Amino acid sequence: MARFYITTPIYYVNDAPHVGHAYCTVNADAMARWHRLIGDETKFLTGTDEHGQKVADAAEKNGVSPQAWADTTSARFREAWDALAISYDDFIRTTEPRHYESVQKFLTAIYDNGFIYKDTYSGLYCVSCEDYFTDEASDNGKCPVHAKPLTQMEEENWFFKLSAFEDKLLEYYAKNPEFVTPGTKSNEAYAFIKGGLRDISITRTSISWGVPVPWDEKHVFYVWYDALINYLTAIGYGREDDEVAKWWPNSHHLIGKEIIRFHCVWWPAMCMAAGLEPPSHVQVHGWLLVGGQKLSKTMAQEGGVKLTDIAPVVLTNEYGVDPIRYYLLREAVLGNDGDFSLEAITARYNTDLANNLGNLVARVATVVQSKCDGLSPGARSDSVLRSDAETAVTETAAAWNRFAPQAALEATWRLIGATNSFLEQNAPWKMESGPEAEAVMGDALEAIRIISILVTPAMPTVAAEIWKRLGLSGLPTDGDFNENTKWGLFAKGVQVEKGDPLFPRIKSE
Ligand code: MSP
Repeated sequence: MARFYITTPIYYVNDAPHVGHAYCTVNADAMARWHRLIGDETKFLTGTDEHGQKVADAAEKNGVSPQAWADTTSARFREAWDALAISYDDFIRTTEPRHYESVQKFLTAIYDNGFIYKDTYSGLYCVSCEDYFTDEASDNGKCPVHAKPLTQMEEENWFFKLSAFEDKLLEYYAKNPEFVTPGTKSNEAYAFIKGGLRDISITRTSISWGVPVPWDEKHVFYVWYDALINYLTAIGYGREDDEVAKWWPNSHHLIGKEIIRFHCVWWPAMCMAAGLEPPSHVQVHGWLLVGGQKLSKTMAQEGGVKLTDIAPVVLTNEYGVDPIRYYLLREAVLGNDGDFSLEAITARYNTDLANNLGNLVARVATVVQSKCDGLSPGARSDSVLRSDAETAVTETAAAWNRFAPQAALEATWRLIGATNSFLEQNAPWKMESGPEAEAVMGDALEAIRIISILVTPAMPTVAAEIWKRLGLSGLPTDGDFNENTKWGLFAKGVQVEKGDPLFPRIKSE
C-alpha cells in the first residue's frame, strides 16, 4: 500500500487564524482526503508554532504568560479547522514535551556531527518574520515582507554550518528535480543556494521562550530552528514511537512562498547534517491577496484589511463549509497568487455550485420521480456519457496526484457540464414515461454517482449528501476507488430521493 504524509506549516499563535491560513490548510486537507480516497495509508499533520519573540510579545501585550496565550490561540486554530472540516490526524504544538524531546535529539545529532559552533552575530532583524536580513535583502532598512523598520541585533549565538551544505544541496536538487514544485519555486531556491550560503545563528539568549539548548542552558533555540523539526516530532523522531522510516520517504510539505528559504534550503541541509534524507517533496503555494496585499495579522494590526470580518468561521457560517472549501481550492492555481473577495465567493457559489452541480442533482432527482417512479433505471453501457465520465476520472485523479486541486475540480466540473448538456439535448422532462426517459435518467444518475465520488476531497459533506439522495448505501469514500468509479455500477430499482436545494442561490449585492 502506498503511503502519503502531508504537512502544513505550523501557524504562529501571535493572533487568530485567518483565511490565508485556511487556504493552506484546506489545500492540504483535500490532498489528504484524496490520498485516503485512493486507498493510501495517509497521515495529515498540522499544528501551531508557539515559541519566539513574536509570540512572547503578543502574550506580554495581552498581559498573560506566553504559555497561556499559546493555549488560547492554538485552540482557536483548532476551532477554525473544525469549522472547515479539516481531517488532520495529528495536531502538533511546539510547546509539547514530545517536541522538546525530538528537537533536542535532532539538534544534538547535528552538534555531534560537528555542524554547530559558537560565534557572535550582528544583523538586521524582523520580529514579524523572526528572521535576519542582510542590507541588500532589506528594503532600505525595512522588512521586504512587512514593510516595518528592521532592528539591529547583536548576540553571541550557536551557529549552524549551512555553508557546508552548498554543494550537497545543489547536487540534491540536480538529482531530485521534483523535490520542490512548481518548477519556478524550485529555481528560486536553487538560485538562492547557488548565490552562496552563510552559516545561520540558531540560538538566542535575548529571550527565554523557546526550547532549551541541551548543551548550553543559557540559550534557547531560535524559533524557526525548533519549528521545522515539528515534521519529525509528529512521526516520533528519536523517541520510542519512532515511525520516521515509515513516513519520511513519503513526506510532502505544503508551504507558502515566503517560507521557501526555510523549507527548501535550511531544512534539507539540517536533515543532511543530522544524517537523515531531506523530506521527499515541498509543494509551494502563493498568497491570497486582498486589494493586491497579502493577508496578514501584522498588517491588519496596522489598519489594513479587517481580518475578523473574513475569519474562517465567519465565512463558513455565511456560505457553508463545503462552498468555502470549494472556493479556496478552485479559485487559484496552487503555486500562484490569487485574489480573495466575497464577490468571487458568491460568483463561484452561484455558478459552479448552484447552477451546475446543485441544479444537476435537483433536476435529475425530480425527473426520476416524475418519469421513473423515483427508481433508478440503471445505466447503458454504451452511453454517450461514458467516455466523459472515464475522462473525468482519469484527469481528476492525475491532477490531484500532481498537487493541482484547481485542475482536478475543473476536470470534475467538465463531467458536470457534459451531464447537464446531455440532459438539455435529450430533454427527458418532455418525454413520456418509458424506456427512452429511463435510459436517459439511468445514464445521468450514473454520472452523478461518479461525480459525487470525485468531489469528496473538496466537498466531503455535500458528496455524502448527494450519495444519500441517490439512495446509495455507505459513503462515496467507501471501498476501492478504481472499482467504484467504473461506469455502470448503479443498480436498477434504487429509490432516489428528492431534497431541498443543495446550494440555494445567493443574491449578489
Ligand atoms: N510559523 C511559521 C511556519 C513554520 S513551519 C515549520 C509561519 N507561520 S505563519 O502563521 O506566519 O504562516 C503559516 C502559513 O500561512 C505560511 O505558509 C503562509 O504562506 C500561510 N499564509 C499566511 N498568509 C497567507 C495568505 N494571505 N495567503 C496564503 N497563505 C498565507 O510562517
